[in-house]
Amino acid sequence: MQAPAVVQTEKLEKSYRLGKNVVKALRGVSLTLHPGEFVVVTGPSGSGKTTLLNIIGTLDKPTSGRVLIDGQDLSGMKDGQLTKLRRHKIGFVFQFHNLIPVLSALENVELPLLTAGVKSKKARERAHSLLGRVELADRTDHLPDELSGGEQQRVAIARALANSPKVILADEPTGDLDTKTGSAVVQVMYELAKQENATVMVVTHDPVVSSRADRLFEMRDGVINEGKPARPSVEQHLIRAVESVPPERQQSLFQPN
Ligand SMILES: Nc1ncnc2c1ncn2[C@@H]1O[C@H](COP(=O)(O)OP(=O)(O)O)[C@@H](O)[C@H]1O
Ligand SMILES: [Mg+2]
Repeated sequence: MQAPAVVQTEKLEKSYRLGKNVVKALRGVSLTLHPGEFVVVTGPSGSGKTTLLNIIGTLDKPTSGRVLIDGQDLSGMKDGQLTKLRRHKIGFVFQFHNLIPVLSALENVELPLLTAGVKSKKARERAHSLLGRVELADRTDHLPDELSGGEQQRVAIARALANSPKVILADEPTGDLDTKTGSAVVQVMYELAKQENATVMVVTHDPVVSSRADRLFEMRDGVINEGKPARPSVEQHLIRAVESVPPERQQSLFQPN
């Protein structure tokens, strides 16, 4: 039997009223995401991607339709219940890191744990462990502006995973990073989420990231469609395998023994 859905949206519609005009940001979005899936959403600017993530993340409400997170219907929930659900079940990674500038990397990761009521010793252990897993064990005491963009985003990923959420929502998390750094950051998110069996929904235009997707969706004008993830060709696999070997040893790959 298949595990129950982690995210389910039913006919979500969202309209924004701007003066006399009504903007239809979502026009009936229905989707079902399962535990541990790595889901990529692409689509042109203005197609409704951020609106969809914000509604799934309980940061915004649909005009009609409903969202269920881990089987719980959000539509009837009061603000306090939504805050609690968000804190325990959802992790966010935004385009611009959103780390708290006066807190160290370690403290930024600890904060959601402490807010959720985890005891300080346990919170510290978990934060250290997560920063180790995003390869920042030697940067725990740095303030955000003492870290590179890629490092900051890895802290944001550790923070998003702190409370072992069921869902990670990442809205263009590599938007302001160079391609290589961005791909490496998403690779870390992919591995950590898989280890923790979290479902990831990531908005990105990075083809390397899309090639890792378990499921690929495209949004256009408020409508979502599922496509086939483009698997990398054999050639690309080989190129990647060669690139993973240190440069000084690459030559020896092509020499007979
Ligand atoms: N708060 C808002 N008020 C009015 N219109 C909005 C608001 N937020 C988004 N929109 C409009 O909704 C549409 C979808 O926006 P958005 O979800 O941000 O798209 P994307 O993330 O795909 O670029 C756009 O046309 C945008 O202008
Ligand atoms: Mg957006």
